[in-house]
Formats: sequence, structure tokens, C-alpha cells
Amino acid sequence: MTEKKIYKPCDLVIFGALGDLSKRKLIISLYGLEKANFIEPDTRIIGVDRLDIDNSEFIEIALKSLQSFLTDDLEDTVWQRFSARLSYLKIDLTQLDQYQRLNAIIDQNARIMVNYFAVAPFLFKNICQGLAKSGILTESSRMVMEKPIGHDLKSSREINDEVVSVFNEKQVYRIDHYLGKETVLNLLALRFANSIFTTNWNHNTIDHIQITVAEEVGIEGRWDYFDKTGQLRDMLQNHLLQILTFIAMEPPANLEAESIHNEKIKVLKALRPITASNIEEKTVRGQYTAGYIKGNAVPGYLEEDGANTESTTESFVALRVDIDNWRWAGVPFYLRTGKRLTGKRSEIVVYFKQLPHNIFKDSFRDLPPNKLIIHLQPNEGVEIEMLNKIPGIDEHIKLKKTKLDLSFSDAFKQSRIFGGYEKLVLEAMRGNPTLFLSRQEIEQAWTWIDSIQNAWRHYKDTPKPYPAGTWGPVASIALIARDGRAWEE
Ligand code: BG6
Repeated sequence: MTEKKIYKPCDLVIFGALGDLSKRKLIISLYGLEKANFIEPDTRIIGVDRLDIDNSEFIEIALKSLQSFLTDDLEDTVWQRFSARLSYLKIDLTQLDQYQRLNAIIDQNARIMVNYFAVAPFLFKNICQGLAKSGILTESSRMVMEKPIGHDLKSSREINDEVVSVFNEKQVYRIDHYLGKETVLNLLALRFANSIFTTNWNHNTIDHIQITVAEEVGIEGRWDYFDKTGQLRDMLQNHLLQILTFIAMEPPANLEAESIHNEKIKVLKALRPITASNIEEKTVRGQYTAGYIKGNAVPGYLEEDGANTESTTESFVALRVDIDNWRWAGVPFYLRTGKRLTGKRSEIVVYFKQLPHNIFKDSFRDLPPNKLIIHLQPNEGVEIEMLNKIPGIDEHIKLKKTKLDLSFSDAFKQSRIFGGYEKLVLEAMRGNPTLFLSRQEIEQAWTWIDSIQNAWRHYKDTPKPYPAGTWGPVASIALIARDGRAWEE
């Protein structure tokens, strides 16, 4: 059995502790880590927000969050351990003098201070300045932040400049929660631990790759945020591009953060720009209209609470992406993501090339290509679609499409699949930056995305309608059909 490594305990300070991110994700993930005994015994969790409440009221709020959002039962012994770590500090995040209050409780010799910015980005500057002014930060302090890190390259640079004026790059942990997902991490294992894939992972054998991140949910009461953002910036700039880099990168020399970041940046730099000259053939934007999800009627995007009925924000996007490097020359990547689609389904499908000659014409006029299907969520697992002889003693050999099916829940019955936040919050406390984003990666991604946004603006492109509960606008089918291919349905 491998020995469990002992890490230094932390003071995890959650700025915005009473906000949505903290209540829906952080508290739930931290409780999950507590239950699995991954939190160091002396680690403390300090909620910071502007409301005038005391420790016991904060603990009560944490309990309510768990009761509302935990998917399994709350265990009393775990809760007792967990709640003993919680405390609360009132700070108006815009008042720089108030950050002094942290000095009274933080002891950086005993614990590492991990500052989680669970607030809107306009407050990042205040928090950085307040922490700097309090004099509490040391070289071992860390800060954790997550998207939206800006809405374009310029605003992202401004946020990063602000943050690195107080923390150095090594202290900054930028989260993309998809990188904490078990199946996304498994892409590293699949690609770099299995010779059948490492030798076949290139333009010689692969025809094209599809990445789908389909959501059933709409915008869930987040009109203000979402309408300014749109699906391209909310999902594709980060989550889908991160999946793409894991699929397309060269083998890193090792699992160190720098090696992985360097390989990912090379992929982002090799993305062929989408500009006004090719935007129409390479992209499709969609917006959902009223429809049905699992038999229940749901409103259209423009009928959501708080909607501006003139909005042309996209809730769906499909792209053809080309990577201009040796490995992927001539291999298109088709990416699509949308809200209010048929179901929640995230998957990668790798289509291998067709064989040059068919000797089984009795079964198939054209032999169907092999497919590797990676189910990211739900039903986590990996399938390979291949052809097999149907058993029998007929005169002619008959083939049938069959699947090699590796379902995580069957193969790893004893292992619990941890959520993305659980993994990433733990890695931030452990001080392992491998699964976090470097500044350069984010800025490179924005450079590519800005070009698409500008081209859409240039054409005053309006999204194509699609009924909720479908696979998006018909134009998305046409986008891939133009190349003689079809989406995996
Ligand atoms: C978030 C987006 O980053 O990811 C949401 O802001 C989206 O709009 C969510 O619904 C999807 O995450 P998951 O883990 O449910 O696939």
C-alpha cells in the first residue's frame, strides 16, 4: 500500500463565503474531502464575507448548504469533525483597512494560507490590495481563482496583472473544474500509458475527433451573467479548449506542472485562427426556443426570468477547429456545446480512418471506421467500436459492429469518483499546480476566442433558433455534413 503523504495544514480562507460558489460547490467538496479523510487534522476553513454574522450562524449556513446540495446522506460524525474547522470573519471586501482583522487569526508559521477568491472578478483587485496592505501574506501563501478570468484578452490581462502584483505566478492557482474531473484526468492515462493509443494518435490513423459537452439545463437564473457571456466564453474558451489540449498535446516529459503547461500552450498556439474570412463555414451559433426536456415544457432563452427579448447571445456553439502542426495536419476537430440540449452528455469520439480496401463486402459496402468513445459524464467510461465476425458456419464471413466497453462503475467498484472541485481544492491545499491553468494558457485561449467574437460582431451574426430538447440548430448538422461527416448521436 502506498503511504499517505503528510501535507502542511492550511488556513483556507474563502472570500465570498456566503455566495453561490461557496455554498453550492466549496462547502460540499470540502465536506466530501473530510469524509474521505483527506483534510489535514489542523486545517481550518475561514469564511469571509460582509454580513454581520457569528461563527455559529455561519456553521448553520454551511449545514443548510449540505442539506440542500449534498447528494448522499450527511453523516453526523463527519459533520462534527468538519464543523469544528469552520469559523467566520466579517470583512467588507471593498474596505482595505478591514483586512487587518485576518492578522488576528492567521498564523503562517503553523499553517499555509490559501486564499480562495469565490467572488465576482471586480472584487479581485480589492482583495489583493487588502491582503497586501494587511501585511499578512508570505511566500508560502496561495491564491485560488476561477473563471470568468476576464471576458476577453484585455480584461483577462487586467485581472492577472492585478493578481500578480501581489502574488507571484507560482502562488496563483487558476481553476477550470473540468481538469478535476476523473475522466478528463484519465485522458492522460489513456494516451500516455497505453501503447496502442500512443502509436496511433495522429493524422496517419485518425480521421477526425468530435468533442461534445451537452447540457440539459438552461441558464438557471443567471441571466445577467450568462447574457453578457454566451456559451462560447462560458464553456468553450475554458472547458472545451482544455479537453482539446489534453487530447491534442504532445507527450509531456513528466507530470510536472511546467511540462504539462508547456505542451498545452503549444496546442493553443497551433489553433488555426477563425476570422471574418472563414467564420461562416467554421462556426454556428444557436439560441434555444421553448421546447421539452424529458417531457416537461421549458421556456425559450428569451422567455427566461429577467430576459431581454432582443438578446442575440448564443446558448449553443459548434465549431470546426484545425490544429496546424505535424501530428494533426488534415484532422479536423468538431466541437459543440449548448444549453437545453437533449440530455446532459459530455464525450469525446475519436474516429479512426477507414481501411483502404474492403474484403467483407457481404456485410458492409464500406467498412465502418473504428471509434474510440470516451464518456466524460455521465456513465464515465471508455468504449471502442470495432467489427467482429458473427459466429456461425455460413459460407460467407458476416461482420457486425460490436463494442469493447469499459465502464468505470464496473471496473472500479471499490473506488469513489470524486468531483472536480474536490480534486482541485485538495490539490490547491497540497500545493500541486499541475492541474491549474497558467496565465499564458488563459491568454492564448482568449486570443483565439477574441478573433471568433470579433468576426461574429463584424457580420452582426445572429444565433440560429433551436427548440429546447434537441441537438441544436440544423446548421450545426450542416457544418459537419459539408465535410462528409456526421455528429455522433
Ligand atoms: C460552468 C458554466 O463553468 O460549467 C455553467 O459556467 C455550466 O454554465 C457548468 O453549466 C457545467 O459544469 P458541469 O460540471 O455540470 O459539466
